Amino acid sequence: MSTTRHFLTDLDFSQAEQTKVLDLALAMKADKYGYTPYAGPQTVAVFFDKTSTRTRVSFHAGIAELGGSPLIINSAESQLGHKESISDSAKVLERMVSTIVWRTYAQSGLEEMAQNSSVPVINALSDDYHPCQLIADLLTVREHKGALAGLKMTYLGDAANNMANSYLLAGVTAGMHVAIAGPEGYLPADSIVAAAKERAALTGGSVTITTDAAAALQDADVVATDTWVSMGQEEEKEARLSLFTDYSVTSAAMKHAKDDAIVLHCLPAYRGYEIEADVIDGPQSVVFDEAENRVHAQKAVMTWLMVASGLAEDARME
Ligand code: CP
Ligand code: NVA
Repeated sequence: MSTTRHFLTDLDFSQAEQTKVLDLALAMKADKYGYTPYAGPQTVAVFFDKTSTRTRVSFHAGIAELGGSPLIINSAESQLGHKESISDSAKVLERMVSTIVWRTYAQSGLEEMAQNSSVPVINALSDDYHPCQLIADLLTVREHKGALAGLKMTYLGDAANNMANSYLLAGVTAGMHVAIAGPEGYLPADSIVAAAKERAALTGGSVTITTDAAAALQDADVVATDTWVSMGQEEEKEARLSLFTDYSVTSAAMKHAKDDAIVLHCLPAYRGYEIEADVIDGPQSVVFDEAENRVHAQKAVMTWLMVASGLAEDARME
């Protein structure tokens, strides 16, 4: 039976595992770890079916810092998904690389890759989740607020997208009280809400799904948003830009949150739409810490998966 651990959704880490990964990321950021699981160097293949700046650069930098050799591939220039099945691709790649990272559309593709791979598979964003981003976001919250459990984290905007799902699932895994607000028809799917409630019952977190932005923001410690037009939705752009205007993170909206609330945005941001320039460029914004933390978070995720899968040894992680 395969013991390989993958990171495909925010639920793939238990609360204890997520804490361990965040601790590791903090140690790596402070440069107190000095462990290089890909020393050799071993290669990590990172495939992109969608565009990227942060994910691409942070994986390249992080893999190099872990002693590995990053292989960044635009999927269109590979056989993956075009001329070769996902399962055959996995069976080839597992013989050549130490980890597979993939930004793609369908979550089912990542699941198929993982089912056929003896090396860890990491979701670098799908239509449904962006779990690596959430490790970076929670790392940023830990740095600014300390312990995560018990904090209120509110997400406003397109509440049916990958970031909304990941804020909900990763947030409750951390024991946070997560409020998600968006218009009717653009809220998380029932299956995601049910999974979040199940996880929250284990961690002491809670789930609020609402169309009332002000109620969701009330006393929030953390306020997050994301683009209203995700990759793959470009043809709906005109219609979508008018759907979410009541859920914009403006300075007026921020008055409902705690005075010391911090503001997250995974970037790229569209000032004047999902977030006002005054807010993202203001004192409560920690978005560039959040962007930097992609490197530290992913180094920790990659290391933890290698050790937990029995593919690398690190006595400090037992
Ligand atoms: N936040 C994020 O994933 O950014 P990129 O699309 O630039 O990778
Ligand atoms: N929801 C956005 C996130 C970008 C990092 C998208 O999928 O395009």
